[in-house]
Amino acid sequence: MIPVPLATPTRMDGDEKSVVNEAIGRVLESSRWILGNEVTAFEKEFARYVDAEESVGVGNGTDALTLAFLALEIPAGSDVLVCETDGGYSAVAARAAGLNAIPIDVDAETLNPSVETARRALSSDARAIVVTHLHGNAVDLAALDAWRKQVGLFLIEDCSQAHGLRVNGQHVGTTGDVATFSFYPTKNLGAAGDAGAIVFSTTSPVGAASRARELREYGWRERYRPGLLGGRNTRMDEIHAAVLRVRLPFLEARNVARRLVWDRYATTLNVGGRATLFGANGASVAHHAVVMTESFADRQNLAQHLTSRGIETGIHYPWLVSEMFGDTAPEIDQGQGQTASSLKRNRALTIPCTPELTEEEVSRVDCALSDWSKR
Ligand SMILES: Cc1ncc(COP(=O)(O)O)c(C=O)c1O
Repeated sequence: MIPVPLATPTRMDGDEKSVVNEAIGRVLESSRWILGNEVTAFEKEFARYVDAEESVGVGNGTDALTLAFLALEIPAGSDVLVCETDGGYSAVAARAAGLNAIPIDVDAETLNPSVETARRALSSDARAIVVTHLHGNAVDLAALDAWRKQVGLFLIEDCSQAHGLRVNGQHVGTTGDVATFSFYPTKNLGAAGDAGAIVFSTTSPVGAASRARELREYGWRERYRPGLLGGRNTRMDEIHAAVLRVRLPFLEARNVARRLVWDRYATTLNVGGRATLFGANGASVAHHAVVMTESFADRQNLAQHLTSRGIETGIHYPWLVSEMFGDTAPEIDQGQGQTASSLKRNRALTIPCTPELTEEEVSRVDCALSDWSKR
């Protein structure tokens, strides 16, 4: 049985593949392979696409978060609130910036952070909150944004799973002080390797974008001339910028294709009534299709059922932020979770949902879901 894959980054369709090949060839023939014209052009095109003022290309999405903290000049030793279920990227980035990540539980209903859950995590040393639009689903920011302004926190939107996502016509990433994106190959907009960007809007502090530009290249203000302390080397490569430039015009159609697959699963699960799709009622660009089962045992049962039919599954994410940074690896939780975050973690199963899946593959997943739902 040929497996239905969870990720299909190398399966680009013919039109897209030929422009990607052409773009890579163009860079190889050029005289500059790092931080050149392709990066400058991509930064402008991507900022224009998300209706932002400016974007700064960096080496990956984790560095984008680290540089966002540094560019906002959050003092070392401060606390940053992050979502307990976000996979740990923001916490890793916070530690790299000398900050402490404080996990926020998710709300039992929305499975996203809320004002109530954030308030419970708020410490006197907290200076920022990272909101991750996880799985391609928008976090409702209206109330959280008002609250964080009241208590004086920077808002960083991690949009690494949400390229092209809009809420009431507004792109995610343009509400907070700064937004970050990863272009890891499996993302909705993926490079041919590691890449990331920090995005600045009219809501960003003055000077933050130019600080990020210095910090991504040793802290240089200009070549070899020191500007800011604390700089590092996290530049964007020309090949990745060129690939991202030619792939950007395909993003909207690819998001629509993802969403059609996602909607199909949502309808099937709705009919069966035994599980739901994460974020089924909100705005989504369907980065992941995450099935929310009713219990840990049910999740295992669904995973086994799909595996037996040659369908790959994943768990995003098996560990909570609060479990990630101890001295020893955490034990596998056997379904006894107490918080809303641990319940989400124990019940969520990711199934294949990419624009390159064939109709036959999507049908196989959909039929398997349907059969399982009716059991
Ligand atoms: C939500 C989120 N944030 C940050 C990252 C980190 O991005 P990168 O892998 O490019 O460092 C990822 C990537 O997997 C992600 O999904």
